[in-house]
Amino acid sequence: MQRPLPHQSGVDPIIQYVHVKKAFGPKKIYDDLHFNIYPGETLTVLGGSGTGKSVMIKMLIGLLKPDEGQVLFHDLDLAPLKDHEMIDVRKKISMVFQLAALFDSLTVFENIAYPLRVHLKLSEEEITERVTNQLSLINVPQELQHRYPGELSGGVKKLIGLARSVVMEPEVILYDEPTTGLDPESTVVINKLIRQIQQERGVTSIVITHDMGGAFYFSDRIAFLKDRHIYKLGTVQEMRAASDPAIQNFLRGIPDEE
Ligand SMILES: Nc1ncnc2c1ncn2[C@@H]1O[C@H](COP(=O)(O)OP(=O)(O)OP(=O)(O)O)[C@@H](O)[C@H]1O
Ligand SMILES: [Mg+2]
Repeated sequence: MQRPLPHQSGVDPIIQYVHVKKAFGPKKIYDDLHFNIYPGETLTVLGGSGTGKSVMIKMLIGLLKPDEGQVLFHDLDLAPLKDHEMIDVRKKISMVFQLAALFDSLTVFENIAYPLRVHLKLSEEEITERVTNQLSLINVPQELQHRYPGELSGGVKKLIGLARSVVMEPEVILYDEPTTGLDPESTVVINKLIRQIQQERGVTSIVITHDMGGAFYFSDRIAFLKDRHIYKLGTVQEMRAASDPAIQNFLRGIPDEE
């Protein structure tokens, strides 16, 4: 039997966007962004270029604030937090950047160990254990831990970036276009990992992607951002079955007329 989807399980949301308004100068991004994300779910955000997908997740890690409304993490309003209070949130919400953004002067091992050294007081043994576990999670041979990023392919660099984001065992992982620029094989590897990390670690994930195959494979729900709000939010099945031409065109890769 299929597991019940997290949004149907009756638990409280982990993240809430509450009537969020945001503009940059005259350019309105959201009139009323209003929806919940539930613990353990993988929610994919789709929408045309410039519709505010990245802004949405930047508000979760304190890089941007709403003009009006609230962004809540476990009922904690993020906007008023001071920098040092935000550090605690950042240990629980991890971001996988579009480019792997590894430190070129550090080995693979030290890249993955970096957040542990900065945020946690762990022994060398514990650090080694966590890094080794991460390398097996991403299926990268242990020998590669002594290499430098410059010696690795784009796909492997992406995997190491992912390992570094997961090593802190965050509650939430944010993926901003994790497979953009990757070859098809590496894309499949990353898409499988997104699902595997959700299933094995129970993390909540928000994924921004243009890869529909991936979105259909790993998402519990899909949010479609259009006209400055969540135009539609539903399960993969509901989105695929939607008769609305704006949704169907987007899912089929036909450009928006807007
Ligand atoms: N810090 C900022 N200052 C001014 N304008 C910004 C800022 N951040 C984003 N914007 C603008 O807000 C709009 C939404 O940006 P965002 O990066 O969220 O788009 P997106 O949906 O992620 O698009 P893409 O698919 O191209 O990545 C864009 O027009 C962008 O130029
Ligand atoms: Mg973006």
